[in-house]
This record gives sequence, structure tokens and C-alpha cells, in this order.
Amino acid sequence: MSTLNSRRARPQRRRTIAAAFVAAMLLAACGDDQDDEMQAGVDRAGEGGSGSRRDAATRPEHDAAPPASTPDAARPGEAVDYDGQQVFRHDTFGDEALWTDQLRMHEVIAKAVDPMTALGAGLKVDSTAVPASVLASADLTDPATTVALIELGAVVGITGEVRDGKLLRVGVACALCHSDVDDSVMEGIGKRLDGHANRDLDPGLILSLSPKFANDEKAKAVLTSWGKGKYDARWNQDGMNAPVLIPPIYGLRGVPLETYTGDGPVSYWNAYVAVTQMGGIGQFFDPRVGVEVLRMPDQVTPKLPALYEYEISLRAPEPPAGSFDAAAAERGKALFEGRAQCSTCHSGATLSDAGERLHTPAETGMEPLHAQRSATGRYRTTPLRALWQHAPYFHDGSAASLDAVVDHYDSHLGLTLGEPDQADLVEYLKSL
Ligand code: HEC
Ligand code: HEC
Repeated sequence: MSTLNSRRARPQRRRTIAAAFVAAMLLAACGDDQDDEMQAGVDRAGEGGSGSRRDAATRPEHDAAPPASTPDAARPGEAVDYDGQQVFRHDTFGDEALWTDQLRMHEVIAKAVDPMTALGAGLKVDSTAVPASVLASADLTDPATTVALIELGAVVGITGEVRDGKLLRVGVACALCHSDVDDSVMEGIGKRLDGHANRDLDPGLILSLSPKFANDEKAKAVLTSWGKGKYDARWNQDGMNAPVLIPPIYGLRGVPLETYTGDGPVSYWNAYVAVTQMGGIGQFFDPRVGVEVLRMPDQVTPKLPALYEYEISLRAPEPPAGSFDAAAAERGKALFEGRAQCSTCHSGATLSDAGERLHTPAETGMEPLHAQRSATGRYRTTPLRALWQHAPYFHDGSAASLDAVVDHYDSHLGLTLGEPDQADLVEYLKSL
């Protein structure tokens, strides 16, 4: 409860025309007759009156305070109603209202997105959902094949309704950004790897194909500037353009605060994304960032507990055998906990912050803008797991490799480690 009130008061953000416009595009999950409500999602100046406003401080389920791993809105017995894996992989929370009715992506897909184009934009295909015979004979240059794959539920993170080979409605699920495949059939086609960041996905490019943006060069320029593996979850709120890397979401059990900036627990952020980014029908309130959206009937909140359970069940993949030098990693661990000062922040089982402690951008030499746009103004110590698996590093991808990470800290913290020690530290990071 207290955290929402006690965190530093956030200056009211300017409400730019761009933000309002973009909101109309991307928050438009309710169809034309409910424009007032969707507007409320960004009208943070307080002129609401559409019935969509509530005092978030009175809503404990959106409290950002630890114990953070308690799912929001959890009520006894609710989790059993939903299958968290199913929600994560396929549930759209009713966001077809955005992706179909507003963005008309069903038309874009049926007209122009053959499987090769889809794979090129980073979409993944779940081979286990496709009968082998179909996979062997599929024409990967025909958009009709994409529609057939969507009908089978095989395009990861895309859920569609198909009748007589025609794509009627389409929406997106969490898996779109937070799942990869193992490429066992070919690049982009294989078994699902839930929780892995899809760093091949170009969400901005995909959005820019919508006819909604056909005559909006400014929006298209922003969307096509993001690139693969990056997304800006605040662009349609504050109109700024500074995308971050899609993070892996495995290994989050025991991590107190979620997002790069530690804005809140898992379900806090899940609700934010489902409602304000995916366009799902639901509610999200946080006066710290001035977001208040209420769309009914809520298809998000009741699913959050099951979704949470599934997310925290996702384990980080182990480093492949022989992928690091064990003796060097052992020496690196001693440096990590000693002279290199890493464990002053990366501590405990998850190597993240203890409790609610966060860091100013200057403490670790990070660019400040992403923190400034968040609810906390600070960065959370990223939990260290499966680092071998998800280069580049830091929220903005500013370190291309683990060597670059160690170099960064060596100069920023004035460690003067020297090359052999730096190499040992890198081996340790590869072992996590
Ligand atoms: C369009 C891509 C996209 C979709 C769809 C998406 N996310 Fe994310 N997710 C991101 C990005 C980008 C971040 C990083 C945001 C930040 O920290 O500022 C993120 C952050 C997270 C985090 C925090 C990870 C951490 O290290 O603390 C979790 C958990 C998460 N997402 C779960 C979900 C769930 C569950 C859904 C579905 C309701 C979802 N995401 C939908 C892109 C996406
Ligand atoms: C003052 C606290 C602090 C210290 C000291 C610190 N870190 Fe970090 N670390 C952070 C924060 C905060 C982030 C998130 C930065 C971002 O993404 O903007 C981070 C991110 C990282 C990441 C990126 C993880 C990812 O998945 O992108 C790695 C790797 C890392 N730190 C390793 C180290 C190592 C190695 C040391 C010691 C040389 C160290 N850290 C020292 C706070 C710290």
C-alpha cells in the first residue's frame, strides 16, 4: 500500500498531441464507441469524467510494495480457473479489438505476410503444432500458409480466428515477445522456448505495417527506428522514443521487483502490458506514471494469478556443457564477491537487489532517460541468469558482450582489474 504514496512524487508529464494521437491508435482496444474510455488511459491531467477514473491508492492489488512476488488481485481459488501456460501462449485478453478492429493486422497478414516474411520479421513457428506432412509440403511464400499456421495455433504469440481459410480476427499474446523456438526444423521453426526473449522480433516494424499508420510518417519513423529485439512500452503513453531490449522472463522466482526500473511485482507489469500495450480489455491504475485505464468486462485481472504462477515456474536454461572454463569461473566468482564489487548490488540467490533498493543511473553509468520515464526514476539490479543465452546486455543493449559489460564496470567503477582478472570474471558470468 504505502509504496505508491511514499515514492517520490512524479512530476505531471506534459500531455503531448503525439501522445494523445498515439494513444488513440494503440490504446484503442474497445472499438470506436468507447473512445472516451481509451483516452482516459493517457489523459493524466485529470479532466476525465468518463467513469474510468479511480483512486489507484485505494487499490491494494496494484500496490508496488513487496512482498512483490504475491500476484496482484489474487483471490483464493482464482488461479485454478485458468491455465497459466495457455494464458501466456495464446490468450489475447480481447486485444483483437486493437489488432483487428483498429490496426487491421488480419488484412495485412492475409494480403502480404507469407511465412518467409513473417520469419524475417522475427515471428516464430511452433513445429509441434503443425502436422509433419503439412510442414513438409507447406508453401512458405504464400500468405495462405501463414493463415493456415495461425489457424493451427502455430505462430508463436499470434492467436487468430479462421473460417474457410479466411483470417477473420487476430490478436497477440505474451509469447509474442517472450518466447523463442529451438530452431530444430529450421531457423525460426522449432519447439517453443517459453520465457526466452525473442530478440529476432521487430515489433515496431510489424506495427508500422498497419494501415492505421499509412499516412502517419512520424509514427512510422518511430516504429521502424526500434529494430529487432527492442520495444518501447511507454511510447504510446509519453510520446518519447527510447526502446529497450525485450528481456528474458525466466528465472524471476524470488526477484522482488520487475522491469528494468523495478516498477512493481510481476502482475503489476503484466497488467500494464496487457492493458496499455497489447490492447487487452482490462484495468490498470498507477498514479506514479499517470496511467488509469478501465475497460470492462475485465479479461485481464482474473488471469493474473495463473499467469504469474506460470511465469515464475520458467527456469533459466543452464549454460551448455563446456561453454566456460570452470577454474577461471571459480576465480571470477571470488572477484565478483570481492575486489570487483559486483555483489554489493548483485546479491542473494537471484543476484538482484535485496528488497526495494534501486540505483540511480549514475551509480552504474547507465543512460538516464529510460529511468526518468519510469515510475521509480531508478534502475533495478538485473538478476543474473543464463547470461550466455541473451546478449546484448543492459536495458538498452549498450554492452554487446560480457567482455563489454566487464569493461564498462572496470572503467565506471575504477576497478583497474587488468586483463586476466577481467577474463576470469567473464568466465564466471558465462557460468550463471
Ligand atoms: C511487444 C512485446 C511485449 C509483449 C507482447 C509483452 N512484453 Fe513483457 N516486456 C517487454 C519489454 C520491452 C519489457 C521490458 C520493459 C521494461 O523493463 O521497461 C518487458 C518486461 C516484462 C517483464 C519484466 C521482466 C524483468 O526482468 O523484470 C515481465 C515479467 C514480462 N514482461 C511479462 C510479460 C507478460 C506476462 C506479457 C503478456 C501479458 C508480456 N510481458 C507481453 C515486451 C513485451
Ligand atoms: C551499484 C550497483 C551495481 C554494481 C556495483 C554492479 N551492478 Fe551490474 N547491474 C546493476 C544494475 C542497476 C543493472 C541494470 C542496468 C541496466 O540495464 O540499465 C545491472 C546490470 C548488469 C548486467 C546486465 C544483465 C542483463 O541481463 O542485461 C550484468 C551482466 C551485470 N550487471 C554484471 C555486473 C558485474 C560483473 C559487476 C561487477 C563488476 C556488476 N554488475 C556491478 C547494478 C550493479
